[in-house]
Amino acid sequence: MNKKQVYIETYGCQMNVADSELVLGILNKNGYGLAEDVHSADVVFLNTCSVRDNAEQRIYGRLGNLKTIKDKKPEMVVGILGCMAERLKTNLIEEKKLVDMVVGPDEYRRLPELLDVVYSGGKGIGVKLSRTETYDDIMPYREDGLQAWISVMRGCDKFCTYCVVPFTRGRERSRSLESVVKEVEHLSVKGFKEVSLLGQNVNSYNDKGSDFADLLAAVAAVDRSMRVRFTTSHPQDLSDKLLYTIAENDNLCNYIHLPVQSGSNRILELMNRTYTVEHYLDLIDKARRIIPGVSFSTDIITGFPTETLEDHLMTVDVMEKVRYDGAYMFKYSPREGTKAFRMEDDVDDKEKTKRLQQIIDLQQRISLELNNALIGSTERILVEGFSRKSDKFMAGRTDTNKVAIFPAHEDISEGDYVDVKIDRVTSATLFGEVVNIAEKYRASAV
Ligand code: 5AD
Ligand code: SF4
Repeated sequence: MNKKQVYIETYGCQMNVADSELVLGILNKNGYGLAEDVHSADVVFLNTCSVRDNAEQRIYGRLGNLKTIKDKKPEMVVGILGCMAERLKTNLIEEKKLVDMVVGPDEYRRLPELLDVVYSGGKGIGVKLSRTETYDDIMPYREDGLQAWISVMRGCDKFCTYCVVPFTRGRERSRSLESVVKEVEHLSVKGFKEVSLLGQNVNSYNDKGSDFADLLAAVAAVDRSMRVRFTTSHPQDLSDKLLYTIAENDNLCNYIHLPVQSGSNRILELMNRTYTVEHYLDLIDKARRIIPGVSFSTDIITGFPTETLEDHLMTVDVMEKVRYDGAYMFKYSPREGTKAFRMEDDVDDKEKTKRLQQIIDLQQRISLELNNALIGSTERILVEGFSRKSDKFMAGRTDTNKVAIFPAHEDISEGDYVDVKIDRVTSATLFGEVVNIAEKYRASAV
């Protein structure tokens, strides 16, 4: 009999990208092949996100499309994985008649068994959360490439009042340092040049007394020609030790994603963020002292319940003070089951849209100013391949995660490090000429 072919579509955060690779790893080991697209698949999984209502709406839309395909191909199995599976559980099966499986983030080991249930005429349901599952021993299935996501911890214990993640991904737990290092060693041998360590709050990583700084140092030591990134950090837990570790290791990227969420202490308290704006700004100053040239990105929610114009202006103020290199900005979206869901969603949508547009415009102006200041400087770039628009140009990233475009050259290929002298910028991209092809990797140009 031919192998059954699986196709996964991934929504939401990088955690989900990493989880989809894990799922493919599990299924591959159990005799399933990987389909090129939905049409050639016997099994289609959507790995879903519940973080905002519009994420879920998109997925419902996609389920509608899949129904049309399934009408013509009734034997095709359709399953929902991830956060929406965990949040809505069997409702998804009852409501959306085409769904055969609902499997939450801690039950992926059971997928082969649950698929068997479906093939024997039942529904495959696995939505228990676990306090211990880290999939430590499972090798994710990855295409060959340059960059890999590695989840180092799962779940979240922070309970920010707006956030559904503690309910969809359960309690915080860490993978063993050993297994992460082993995975990085394996990736290094396969020629990967960049790894990003993932967790909802990586700073509370803890494996038998090793903290996140210890993990980062161990990963950085595996292969000095490999860049190491991480996300996400919570401002309450970012330690001095971590900052010094980044400063001391050339291949730990000088880039910290540090969500502020709001610039108003009153709103931060309502969000249960457990820090003040003053603490946050001190942390940014300290990081800049310890890691010269470090860049920051952030997440901001606009229109949280009771947010006044004054609160909004305080957020604007923080953005102007920090001058982030990048920001992910969202309208507040009430999520059932969270504490904030019980508060009145009293900022009307028009006002949310207006505030969101203001901060998007502001961030764009700041990004452009920061990029402008780089004109004339030389940046070390990890070459990722040809630029999307033309194969006369190549693209890569700086240590600080900015995209740079430069003319292609026969001596330069994917995975090389090159030094690019910046001569033109936009708010999103740097452009320049290659001045040096680096023989040995160093995190910054000399
Ligand atoms: N509404 C809007 N944005 C949210 N985020 C998390 N929950 C919500 C919500 N209910 C944002 C936060 C978080 C990012 C991943 O998504 O900014 O940092
Ligand atoms: Fe979405 Fe959050 Fe789940 Fe990631 S962890 S998929 S962002 S709800």
